[in-house]
Amino acid sequence: MEIKNVCVIGAGVMGSGIAQLAATHGYHVNLVDINEGLLKKAKVSIDKNLNRFFVSKNKISSEEAENILNRIRLITNRDEAIKGVQMVVEAVYEDMALKQQLLSDLDEKCDKEVILASNTSSLSITDMAMKSKSRERIVGIHFFNPAPVMKLIELIKGKNTSDEIMDRAKKFSESLNKTVVTVNDSPGFITTRLIYVLCNEAINMKQEGIASTEDIDTAVKLAFNFPMGPLELSDLVGNDIYLHIGEYLSEKLGQYYQPSPLLIEMVKDNQIGRKTKKGFYNY
Ligand SMILES: NC(=O)c1ccc[n+]([C@@H]2O[C@H](COP(=O)([O-])OP(=O)(O)OC[C@H]3O[C@@H](n4cnc5c(N)ncnc54)[C@H](O)[C@@H]3O)[C@@H](O)[C@H]2O)c1
Repeated sequence: MEIKNVCVIGAGVMGSGIAQLAATHGYHVNLVDINEGLLKKAKVSIDKNLNRFFVSKNKISSEEAENILNRIRLITNRDEAIKGVQMVVEAVYEDMALKQQLLSDLDEKCDKEVILASNTSSLSITDMAMKSKSRERIVGIHFFNPAPVMKLIELIKGKNTSDEIMDRAKKFSESLNKTVVTVNDSPGFITTRLIYVLCNEAINMKQEGIASTEDIDTAVKLAFNFPMGPLELSDLVGNDIYLHIGEYLSEKLGQYYQPSPLLIEMVKDNQIGRKTKKGFYNY
């Protein structure tokens, strides 16, 4: 079954980026959110992004940008949005119960051939599929932020995901001009598990007082040629997000992943990072 029409659920940071990316590669996208205001905001930000990063850099013409925008339909009614699509990508909040319920609803309502994908950045795909009947069609397609720009897609095979769905999801991901890596379902996959450990260890070092925030970041940037230090990255992603990931990884994989006490304290104190203008740095 050739994929032509895609439904993206959740029009936040990731959903709007995924919709832009898919529409850029010729797919017709139904972008869904429960919040109509957020949907409108998403389209405005896609329009701005297309102009700022693609049209003004002569990567696409303004006519092409308009065609891309016209391929994205904004919808609040999910049942309407899944009609005629061959692929659904969910990008709602990182909440297991919410995603399990959403996938099981989609499983009830979508034709049997439709691929059901989650853009979760850490949650188990196997657990997420637990409430659904056709678990073989549920797969993780982990995009990175900003989705239209980042080169990687992590493809996650749940315990019950079929080889056929993996193949089709891989072809779809490659059609978006991404490099695909395949991972057997495991909390945090490759990327989130590794980056969490790096950032959490940097936070432990900061707590132990072995170096200043600036020196920890400078050391990592210059020693490993990383574009950003772990503490500035944690502020950018959100210290609350890393705490959430750490709690999940330590519950699933063991004590080693326990979030740093300093991270827990900072989140309690609303030092989330850029979002609250205060974290390891002041903004
Ligand atoms: N932000 C990142 O850097 C990043 C990177 C990779 C993956 N992810 C993953 O992508 C997912 C979304 O993250 P985000 O940062 O875009 O979140 P976000 O908070 O920006 O957006 C989530 C959107 O989902 C909508 N939503 C919630 N419940 C819904 C429902 N039942 N139906 C329709 N819409 C609903 C919300 O209104 C909101 O607009 C999460 O699973 C996250 O872990 C995030």
